[in-house]
Amino acid sequence: MWEYTDKVREHFINPKNVGEIPDASCVGEVGSLACGDALKLYLKVDEQDRIVDAKFQTFGCASAIASSSALTEMIKGKTVDEALDVSNQDIAEFLGGLPKEKMHCSVMGKEALEAAVANLRGQAVAPHQEGEVVCECFGVTDETIKRAIAENKLNTVEEITDYTKAGGGCGKCLDKLADILAEMKGQKLKPLEPVAQRPAGLTNLQRMKLISKIIDEEISPSLQKDGGNIELVDVDGKKVLVQLRGACSSCKSSQLTLKQFVEKRLRDAVEPDLTVEEVR
Ligand code: FES
Repeated sequence: MWEYTDKVREHFINPKNVGEIPDASCVGEVGSLACGDALKLYLKVDEQDRIVDAKFQTFGCASAIASSSALTEMIKGKTVDEALDVSNQDIAEFLGGLPKEKMHCSVMGKEALEAAVANLRGQAVAPHQEGEVVCECFGVTDETIKRAIAENKLNTVEEITDYTKAGGGCGKCLDKLADILAEMKGQKLKPLEPVAQRPAGLTNLQRMKLISKIIDEEISPSLQKDGGNIELVDVDGKKVLVQLRGACSSCKSSQLTLKQFVEKRLRDAVEPDLTVEEVR
């Protein structure tokens, strides 16, 4: 059972601005009944580009109805550009917060607004429709996922599902979501120089020295730029044992950093069958 704030309950039980605007200036539609949530947003915009009326029709849960109601209240009286500055986080905050599993309802509100504005401005494609569909179950594109990660500072695949619904169906797209997340998080790390040539036939001592050198000279400085660090604890055959320090030790995406950055780099630079494990 979700914990809802009083404000969510209020906007769910007595939603504001329900219905349609027959002579609307534009309409934005997102989601689908097949996906469980759908929202149609109608805007009436005056000659000064000000939203003088906003109404919605939605099919969805309490959070979807409350988010839609909140959105219409928030954007009425704003210019179209001012309304576009309303983020999904703003919608959630207006409601005093949403359960994290329901944050996708606030994202749906933001996307409906953008779809309506795209309709108003004669644009064929709304921002959330740009890019390639990654999650076929919910029709979520890579651009939507990247934006959700960046704007909401998401750190796990589970959070991507909470905010976009991607991955919440058959699960076939989960690997792709992890790749996008790794790519996004990897951008924060300093790109490393390509390895000229991987040495062959290393002795234990040579392997240990080379791993230590790569960690000290490349991996550690990159992590330090984000307030983290790494320390080599031991090398047991092909198993590299490390400790994450600073921001890395408490970071939700530490396992991603370990596998997609540290392990990948050591495999490229030292031996392709190395594994990296964290010791605490
Ligand atoms: S393709 Fe993403 S959950 Fe099915």
